[in-house]
Amino acid sequence: MCIFLMSGLFLFEVTKPQTSLMAVRLKHHRYITALLGSSAILSFLYFQNSAMVLMDSSHGLVSERAPCACGNCVTDQGNSRWFSDRYKPTVPLLLNSNNSVLHADVSRWWKELQDVPNVSNYTAVVDQLFSLFPDEDAGPDRGRTCAVVGNSGNLLGSHYGPLIDFHDFVIRINKGPTKHYEKDVGSKTTHRIMYPESAMDLDNSTHLVLFPFKILDMQWLFSAFTTKNITQTYTEVPSTIKANKDKVMILHPEFMRYVYDNWTECHGRYPSTGFLTLIFALHICDEVNVFGFGATSNGNWHHYFDETLTPFENDSHAGDFENKTISRLQQEKKILLYRGWT
Ligand code: C5P
Repeated sequence: MCIFLMSGLFLFEVTKPQTSLMAVRLKHHRYITALLGSSAILSFLYFQNSAMVLMDSSHGLVSERAPCACGNCVTDQGNSRWFSDRYKPTVPLLLNSNNSVLHADVSRWWKELQDVPNVSNYTAVVDQLFSLFPDEDAGPDRGRTCAVVGNSGNLLGSHYGPLIDFHDFVIRINKGPTKHYEKDVGSKTTHRIMYPESAMDLDNSTHLVLFPFKILDMQWLFSAFTTKNITQTYTEVPSTIKANKDKVMILHPEFMRYVYDNWTECHGRYPSTGFLTLIFALHICDEVNVFGFGATSNGNWHHYFDETLTPFENDSHAGDFENKTISRLQQEKKILLYRGWT
């Protein structure tokens, strides 16, 4: 376009009436030199740019780049082949009424996770959900910096609280409390990941993010805000919950399957909530910092808020493989892992 502008200027100049032939020749000479010079520079820049695009494409590393203000952005895929082989920017994150139809293989896999016999009609449940909760095509807002806070006992004594609260998004998981633990875990929560068996009350500004492991989880969510009649899944669950219904989000079952296929490479039966959360954060944040992940040296998950010890490698989750993937994400500079104190 610049070349056309320059040419237009040149034509305008040569058609202007001139007083002497010499003056016209001199002027022509000056503008031809200027035009050729600019064209050469512009052509150089244009071809150099094309060459860079081609070079990137030949490595298969180019994808849509979201605007990002961080020094090291998750979406800068060009610097890790390992990462770009796994990361799929187009995967649906949240369920809505327009994207709710499940591919046959996703549907089969997801329904097999359901310990409780499934007698419900998925389509009817989804219709009911989006008559009450936000039904948005646009997907979740993006956060520039995000803290994913797991529930590991390694947070105790860490003094990470102020650092965690400094993030735009603070994503907490299940029942991990803040009260009485502010110094180590912070007090801000923008997103709380939960399912019926791990539900807790939220304040009005926090997003309730349901990870549905079964259709009954979706029914429970609806019931908890309306009829309050579901009190039992495979265990007792709260009949109601305090939370802002306009901030509810529901993770797409296809996203769960994507994490299982691409990130845990089909180890275990399905990914752990913490691991799903971490990968979810990679899709909604420019920069992901991870706190409260890590078992004890003898392979137990312990919480900063209670005494329970659960073996982290169990029938359902591939704790060891997840940990290796988390370490690799750190190595590839896609996350920063804060290993805590204990
Ligand atoms: O135990 P719970 O599932 O509520 O913990 C949330 C997440 O925090 C887990 O899924 C796991 O990813 C992480 N966690 C951990 N080490 C622990 C406890 C929890 O990595 N000791």
